Amino acid sequence: PVKVYPDMYSASKAVAQRIAAIIKQKTQKGEKVVLGLATGVTPIGVYNELVRLYREEGLSFKNVVTFNLDEYYPMNPEAPQSYKVFMYKHLFDHVDIDPQNVHIPDGALAQDDIAAFCLDYEQKITAYGGLDLQILGIGRTGHIGFNEPGSAPNSGTRLVTLDELTRGDAAHDFGGKANVPLKAITMGIGTIFKAREIILMAWNAKKAEIIKKAVEGEISSDIPATYLQHSDNVEFVLDIAAASALT
Ligand code: F6R
Repeated sequence: PVKVYPDMYSASKAVAQRIAAIIKQKTQKGEKVVLGLATGVTPIGVYNELVRLYREEGLSFKNVVTFNLDEYYPMNPEAPQSYKVFMYKHLFDHVDIDPQNVHIPDGALAQDDIAAFCLDYEQKITAYGGLDLQILGIGRTGHIGFNEPGSAPNSGTRLVTLDELTRGDAAHDFGGKANVPLKAITMGIGTIFKAREIILMAWNAKKAEIIKKAVEGEISSDIPATYLQHSDNVEFVLDIAAASALT
């Protein structure tokens, strides 16, 4: 289903409310809450609202375990462009999460250690009982996580090559496209699909065309986000501009 909000602020608040509801519900039962998180500009409003809920309404992250979708490779985890730095800056530094419960693919791994790391990432998610909720943005190539065109529907966590369009879109953060890493470690489409609930968010007219393809287009590996049409547990949360090309 598709839900359209007047603007990204109201949409972000609604997504944060859903996350807070899952946290409260599972915490009450004494269970861990397992969240799949995304980076990029899209979820920043959600993280701001979660920080507000922690500060002003006592929402606790003590029982929360997180798995981030992806990280550039290679990437120094302490570099300003790393998704690790992003997550601490926008969320983890401001709430009471236990850093031991935070999982982000490691951009500093030796090439030879990547396969084992990816397998372990999958096994950790499974050991925690699977993802309760995965939040997603969408790239202009139709990627979710960094599952670029050509990604298989049953793909797992792995090293991938970034699309040229994706590297172009990241150029600003790196002071030029030449500095954008060529690769990334990402959860797979199969990993994302195992989540009990998936929320894909998109704001801005820049996303309207890819949202139309993702929601209404033919299901194909050319636009990996179209795989989500197969899921009963997915919600597309859009602002009016991102939804503007939908029929
Ligand atoms: C980030 C991620 C990517 C982004 C997508 C959109 O963890 O997995 O798929 O969600 O590239 O990025 P923004 O939100 O910056 O437009």
